[in-house]
Amino acid sequence: MLLGLGGVKAALPVAPPQPEQIDRVHSALAQLRLNETLASNLARLQQALAANPDSEPLLHQVARLQIRLDRRADALLTYRHLLALRPDHAEARHMAAILSGEAPDKANADYIAGLFDAFADSFDEKLVGWLDYKAPQQVAAVATRLLVGRIATRAIDLGCGTGLLGPEVQKLVRRLDGIDLSPRMVDKARQRGVYDELIVGEIVAALLKRPAVYDLVLAADVLSYFGDLRSLFIAVRDCLQPDGLFVATVEKGAEARYTASKTGRYQHGETYLRKRAAEAGFDVIALEEVELRQEEGRPVPGYVFALRLIPPIPVDPLTTLSTDELLDGLDAPAAAILQQAAERMIGNDFAVGWAVDIGGGMGRHTAELRRLAQHLDMVSEDADRSRRAFEAGVYDDCDTDTIIPFLEARPDHYDLMLAVDLLDRERDLSAVFSAVKIALALAGVFIAVTSTRDEAELREMAKAEGLVVIAVEPVSLPDGAPALCLIAES
Ligand SMILES: C[S@@+](CC[C@H](N)C(=O)[O-])C[C@H]1O[C@@H](n2cnc3c(N)ncnc32)[C@H](O)[C@@H]1O
Repeated sequence: MLLGLGGVKAALPVAPPQPEQIDRVHSALAQLRLNETLASNLARLQQALAANPDSEPLLHQVARLQIRLDRRADALLTYRHLLALRPDHAEARHMAAILSGEAPDKANADYIAGLFDAFADSFDEKLVGWLDYKAPQQVAAVATRLLVGRIATRAIDLGCGTGLLGPEVQKLVRRLDGIDLSPRMVDKARQRGVYDELIVGEIVAALLKRPAVYDLVLAADVLSYFGDLRSLFIAVRDCLQPDGLFVATVEKGAEARYTASKTGRYQHGETYLRKRAAEAGFDVIALEEVELRQEEGRPVPGYVFALRLIPPIPVDPLTTLSTDELLDGLDAPAAAILQQAAERMIGNDFAVGWAVDIGGGMGRHTAELRRLAQHLDMVSEDADRSRRAFEAGVYDDCDTDTIIPFLEARPDHYDLMLAVDLLDRERDLSAVFSAVKIALALAGVFIAVTSTRDEAELREMAKAEGLVVIAVEPVSLPDGAPALCLIAES
């Protein structure tokens, strides 16, 4: 009987394999061969390491090979060994955090710069030649479609790398800037001769210094080095003109949040992407599934997406009110105390660069504050407050935003930060101090008044987040209520 069935099977015509089946078999075989080579290289390196167990270059190469062979637990041990020898090893710090399930919010700048400096010479050949890299073309195609024949006045290519995107969008833009952390990648981009300005720097920090400058912002395969997209989206929003467009790619994540893979890169789920976009005030006007490139013989799935700012709802102007009347509505009880403390700290003959009124409660005192700072921002969670402040015309910039993300999105930004009720309103004091520490520039000063916290709590929590407490002074609010004025430095 069995024999009989075998005979029937043999007699049936066999369908010829489809080309994609052949491709899959070929790439699986190629991967198998590659893994064998990697495994024998690893064995050789491990022998060398046994003879010289604290060799940093050997540990580094072993960890990278272990990652490629998917031996994650071994790679974590190797990176930890490397970190024990060199606590400042940027790649080991990033990869050990990811492999132990504690991915940082984004890849650290030293790691990125080192990784891509080393990769600059071979980037184009590897990505385009071997890995069928298409992100620049995918970004350019969506931007072209959404601009419908319009030419962007000023565009920026975030994480421009060697500048593969530049030639793809050259015809769409009048002026094109580029920014990247890796000086050697930027050198390659410069050689293309299509960028008007090239900046070596960190994207979020650089964009925050360019408010409302661009009408087109592009990012091909860069968001995979950002986990939490909040600060990036806020920075992009703030650097865009009101009708500006942001087109970018992400690696596709399976979950409603971001994840980090053994490659050291981050993936983003659609729900997560849409949530962060909406929080930053964007409409998602395009979102398409794409294959970004090949990795280990398989396509890397991603999204190319486009965001546009949601136009503000028109509101009746308050401009029938005078500046004084507008500021009257903002005067917080603690404003005079903060003003005096700021004057003491800054001195009469000096002005700092950037200051911020957190909570927008400095009211009439903004006039005096202007003497102390060249640039004065305000931020409030209350849209009406920001609008009054804006219409009063005394601030350089007025934002309606949640305070902690606002500060987190402005690293090393403010020389002077005044907070009227932040310490009383926010429940999590360490989150407040951590955000303050991020936003303070070197030697920046933070001054805040509180009527609900005690001195020991303020000192302890501020110190735990790396702030240096200069003073905690007892003060009286205008109604006679006791309060404390905290003065701290970064
Ligand atoms: C995969 S490459 C893509 C380069 C280029 N966009 C392209 O499509 O060819 C990612 C680039 O983003 C840069 N990068 C990543 N995070 C960055 C950050 N926070 N600030 C500036 N550049 C960053 C890296 O240095 C690297 O050159």
